[in-house]
Amino acid sequence: MLGAGVMGGGIAQVAATAGFDVVVYDIDPAALRTGHEHATVGRYGLDSGVARGKLTREEADAAAARLTFTEDFEAAAHTDLVIEAVPERLDLKIRVFRDLDAAAPQSTILCSNSSGFPIQALSAATNRADRGVGWHWASPAPVMKFAEIVRTRATSDETVTTVCAAALRCGKHPVVVQDTAMAWGYVANRVYFAMVAEAQKVVNEGVATQDEVDQLLMDCYRWPSGPFGMVKGATSGWT
Ligand SMILES: NC(=O)c1ccc[n+]([C@@H]2O[C@H](COP(=O)([O-])OP(=O)(O)OC[C@H]3O[C@@H](n4cnc5c(N)ncnc54)[C@H](O)[C@@H]3O)[C@@H](O)[C@H]2O)c1
Repeated sequence: MLGAGVMGGGIAQVAATAGFDVVVYDIDPAALRTGHEHATVGRYGLDSGVARGKLTREEADAAAARLTFTEDFEAAAHTDLVIEAVPERLDLKIRVFRDLDAAAPQSTILCSNSSGFPIQALSAATNRADRGVGWHWASPAPVMKFAEIVRTRATSDETVTTVCAAALRCGKHPVVVQDTAMAWGYVANRVYFAMVAEAQKVVNEGVATQDEVDQLLMDCYRWPSGPFGMVKGATSGWT
């Protein structure tokens, strides 16, 4: 796991709960500490899972024991499958994929949790495009079933099968979609951001406030959060 921020800590927690040994690397030691805290004692962390009856104490302790937060990049790269959740900057993600390709065993699958960059742009920086794939999670990772699996033309069937199996084991609902360089956002974010843009227009025109738009959409569509609340939650990790 690369990146211990809002997404990385939660993804690591979910994978460890599913029985995978997880090594989390971040360039920022403070982020490693915070990510560990979120995964263990945070609002959706392992302890809260026990309190909410989702896990037994033994299961939570076993998951915690499978989690390693480290400043050692090589340790995180030497795993069967790596998910990068570094900030949404294309240049950074390309560099991360290139560095992972150099450090990871040839068999390692490289996944990106990008919110929408073409996966083919990341895979092109590697010598293993058949093992490059998008595995897009939603926040908070321990709660949301969402698993948008983004395959490029080069992604192998075997890679897709392995990643879908891992997502299922993590309790998620994998849906495989096609990568495209034509638009940012795959499926979920393309549709979502079109809706947010319209919601912002409504606010700019003075038709309704952000809170009113959120309330109307929650009541009309039974969404747990409106478009503006969703943007805030994605930034804060719903803490
Ligand atoms: N927040 C959400 O709701 C959400 C949902 C789905 C996908 N995403 C995507 O997940 C990715 C991460 O988002 P986030 O909200 O967790 O961001 P974040 O800023 O909370 O965390 C990113 C972490 O990456 C670390 N980092 C930066 N450069 C690094 C490097 N070279 N190697 C290792 N770690 C590095 C940072 O120190 C930070 O801790 C982004 O691509 C984002 O678009 C976010």
